Amino acid sequence: MVLRVSAGHMVGRDGELRRLLALLDDAEAGQSVAALVSGDAGVGKSRLVSEVTRLAEERGFTVLSGQCAELGDSVPYLPLADALRGAAQSTGVQDAMSSRPALSRLLPEGGYGQLDNEVRSGLARQQMFGEVLGLLAELAAATPVLLVLEDLHWADASTRDLVTFLSRMLHRERVALIGTYRTDDLHRRHPLRPVVAELLRLPSVIAVDLTPLAPSALAEHLTAALTGQAAGPGRIDATALNDIVTRAEGNAYYAEELLAASVNGDQAERRTLPAGLAALLLSRVERLSDEAQRVLRAAAVAGRKADDELVQAASGLAAAEYEAAVREAVTHQLLVTDGADGYVFRHALLREAVYGDLLPGERTRLHATMCSLLSDEQRLAVPGTAAELAQHCLASHDIPSAFAASIRAGDEAEQLGAPAEAHRHYDQALALWERVADPEKTAGMVRGKLGLLSASNAADSGDVERAVHLLRRLRQAITAQAERGEQTVDALLASRIGERLAFYLMTMDDYKSQAEAVEVALATVEATPESPPTWQYARAVATYANTLLIDDDFDAVREWAARGLDAARAASAPWVQADALVTLGFVSNRSGRNDEAIELLTQAHKQAREAKVLGVELRAAYHLARAHLERGDLTSGGLIAFEGTKRANQTGLGLAPYGTDVQHLHFQCHYADGKWDHAQEIADGFPVRVTSVPEAQLSSMALFIDVARGNPAVAERHAWIEPFLAAPGFDGFIARSLLAEHALWQGDTDLALTQAQAAIDITFEPPWGFHPSSIRPAVIALSVRADRAVQARAAGDEESARAEVEAARELLRVAREGAAFPKRPKFTLGPEGRGWLARAEAEFRRASGDNDPGEWEAAIAEFGPAYVYEIARTRWRLAEALAEAGRRDEAGEQWRLAARTADDLHARPLRRVLDDLARRARIGTAEQHGDGAVLAALTSREREVLRLIAAGRSNREIASVLFIAPKTASVHVSNILGKLGAASRTEAAAIAHREGLTAQPAGN
Ligand SMILES: Nc1ncnc2c1ncn2[C@@H]1O[C@H](COP(=O)(O)OP(=O)(O)OP(=O)(O)O)[C@@H](O)[C@H]1O
Ligand SMILES: [Mg+2]
Repeated sequence: MVLRVSAGHMVGRDGELRRLLALLDDAEAGQSVAALVSGDAGVGKSRLVSEVTRLAEERGFTVLSGQCAELGDSVPYLPLADALRGAAQSTGVQDAMSSRPALSRLLPEGGYGQLDNEVRSGLARQQMFGEVLGLLAELAAATPVLLVLEDLHWADASTRDLVTFLSRMLHRERVALIGTYRTDDLHRRHPLRPVVAELLRLPSVIAVDLTPLAPSALAEHLTAALTGQAAGPGRIDATALNDIVTRAEGNAYYAEELLAASVNGDQAERRTLPAGLAALLLSRVERLSDEAQRVLRAAAVAGRKADDELVQAASGLAAAEYEAAVREAVTHQLLVTDGADGYVFRHALLREAVYGDLLPGERTRLHATMCSLLSDEQRLAVPGTAAELAQHCLASHDIPSAFAASIRAGDEAEQLGAPAEAHRHYDQALALWERVADPEKTAGMVRGKLGLLSASNAADSGDVERAVHLLRRLRQAITAQAERGEQTVDALLASRIGERLAFYLMTMDDYKSQAEAVEVALATVEATPESPPTWQYARAVATYANTLLIDDDFDAVREWAARGLDAARAASAPWVQADALVTLGFVSNRSGRNDEAIELLTQAHKQAREAKVLGVELRAAYHLARAHLERGDLTSGGLIAFEGTKRANQTGLGLAPYGTDVQHLHFQCHYADGKWDHAQEIADGFPVRVTSVPEAQLSSMALFIDVARGNPAVAERHAWIEPFLAAPGFDGFIARSLLAEHALWQGDTDLALTQAQAAIDITFEPPWGFHPSSIRPAVIALSVRADRAVQARAAGDEESARAEVEAARELLRVAREGAAFPKRPKFTLGPEGRGWLARAEAEFRRASGDNDPGEWEAAIAEFGPAYVYEIARTRWRLAEALAEAGRRDEAGEQWRLAARTADDLHARPLRRVLDDLARRARIGTAEQHGDGAVLAALTSREREVLRLIAAGRSNREIASVLFIAPKTASVHVSNILGKLGAASRTEAAAIAHREGLTAQPAGN
């Protein structure tokens, strides 16, 4: 399959594009200008320039575009000839050429071949330069001209001189000149260097340096490339995508090559460099001396960051030779110094290429050297060294040392609260277990224990599926051993394995896994000795009680939870008591006794905290916060969830089961109560570049506020969530519902329907049917149907109107069934669910041509006062219905209430539709934001940040003044730039000054 990526939409170069378009404005206005676009090979110079070229043509420019080729000095004026040839069809150019003999000779029919000798004479050159100038002036008299000369790093001397000449001589002609060159080719003695330096001193010449593309832009580009694919294995998962984005380091060409290899190649090829790319990268290395190449090879083995001392030792060069060789590699821009005593490769793929080019024996030897250098207690005391050592040992086939180092690295990572890394190292050790002489002695534990450690760290890092897989295999191995009559692990360890498996299965959101959980939990209880009392037995019982929740058999749950409590007491394990109490509290909550639930959960939470068992503490915090939230006590709920969030993040459990849940509850509490600036700060802390299911889940949560505010972040979040929408284990209904709302706000009703329907489909669970979460997307779709029905009726198209009403009727059925929740007949809908359901009824009436204010009033009453934003949205529709009924004063009153909330929350899309309604219905006072209209889009927090930007503060300083994390500050800054349409901080600062937001002291 061929992957076509170049044709698509250009990403991430708005600022640069704007500068180049401003250049065209200048040229149009009669001021000659030039830009030098520079950047590494493949970073996107040609792509940007082609965009400018296209827009210039649209604006009526005559475009001449020529390329230099890698022929060095041998063909003079090659790019000029190329440009003229390309434009020779245009009659204007033809005419202008015909009177210029020197130029005509550049064309094939003009005898290009003979040019060589003549142009070397000074006279011929003068004539040539004069004719080019004359040609441009003549063309520019008719229409403005854009002359593009690409890849000037390869330009011949005459072309270089011509560029200098034109930049100096063009003044009032309507000509824009754009030259591009590669920065990474421009070594210190490159002949283009002085030319660039000289040109940039001219006031009419600007430099546009292309830095690496932002990861989000690259991801968007690659995702778009994949979406454009026809059938076939076009999709890759988000981990692979993220991997490519990371490896490409902002280089679009590298990213495309890696993507093509990854889509086309098989599993094994994915991790290696595509051959063409490797050859390209290595050609830069091959120009170096032998010694410098030796240094690069040693550095490639050492890693992306290479420690000076290690590299020298591994290279085997004496000090003086080594210094010279390193200097050479640095001069050629292959290595870059990093800190006082290390180097990094200029690009990570360069390291991969050099590494991939090592001969097998050479590679093993170099790794072995690294092993012996690193195996020294002093070095090993530095965190992270054990992990490096393990890798080098493995690569040099020293299995026993690799095994020992992996265990050590796993322990180290676990202590640092880095479960993902701990899991990786333990897993590595497990893989080596059978190849080591006395593994139990080296590891200090039996194999089953190591497996359990690996699995629980996988789950703690958010990868529950991996944990389940590992634990299932461990259980199978134990059973098989027992059947063969061999000695198995001791009963308590087996109990732990069974209990954890059941617990993780229970946290997976599907019925099949949960049914398996019940079975595993029961078998575990039965296989664990009841006496003497142990916490393991108590925990097995408590977890069994928890799994029984699946069928709403509350009596059975209570009975087993009580047994768990007793067993925990007998074993003096207060945290297991706490765990059983959480289950009891949850049952009370489910049976509608929320006060009792809160009492039990509060006690459980306290007990778990005192016992310092984090997993239980988080589970308690989650259920307690949720119970508060359900009762409408957002303050208590918010506090508990906040504390849980802090604990989870401090201990590396942010993505573990219940770790993500407390985080999104924390957000939900502030989102619901209308403290949106705070909610926004929380949401901004949720990852954007998501590469795992729990991260994608958190990012979906942030969409609540990003969509409601119309934040630019929506597009970026969407791009990263997209690959997960089809992933197993990802619950896409929140993301899809919110993307449907976003599409609706943007006026894309087809997309809104598609997303909403996809969300509805996700919530359908056979054999039971719809779920309360089906209601919300059903309402979004209903809203589209109603809009369309209203339009059709207005146009007199009764047939279409009827079809829309039928579609709406089906959606109303979905909402009603979801509210009834057939799977859990004892369930009662909370205020939020009732509010949405009432909205469904109201939308259906609107679709039917009977927009009844009473229905919308009912919806407001159902939400109750807590759901600030939902109420404002409903008031908007109420105002519309009242206006339709001719009750203008009441409509105006509802409109004003809604508008005030929309402004307070900075819910811009809502404000837009309100303004539209005001214009159409002549209600409301089109309240204006006054002079500061430009800044009105900003939240008060963002204004604060903008004030500091205007005062020249850095993100770090802003963070400290406002008591927020630097990351949060940087998110504020990019949102501000987005909202103001500013390309840089300087531009934003200028806007702030212009709008009168002067630098008042904030903080110190
Ligand atoms: N901003 C962008 N948006 C979308 N695609 C891009 C972007 N920048 C580059 N690309 C794509 O990446 C590839 C490499 O880009 P391009 O050819 O413009 O690089 P270059 O800087 O001109 O490299 P060279 O120095 O080799 O000429 C092309 O397929 C291009 O379409
Ligand atoms: Mg190019």
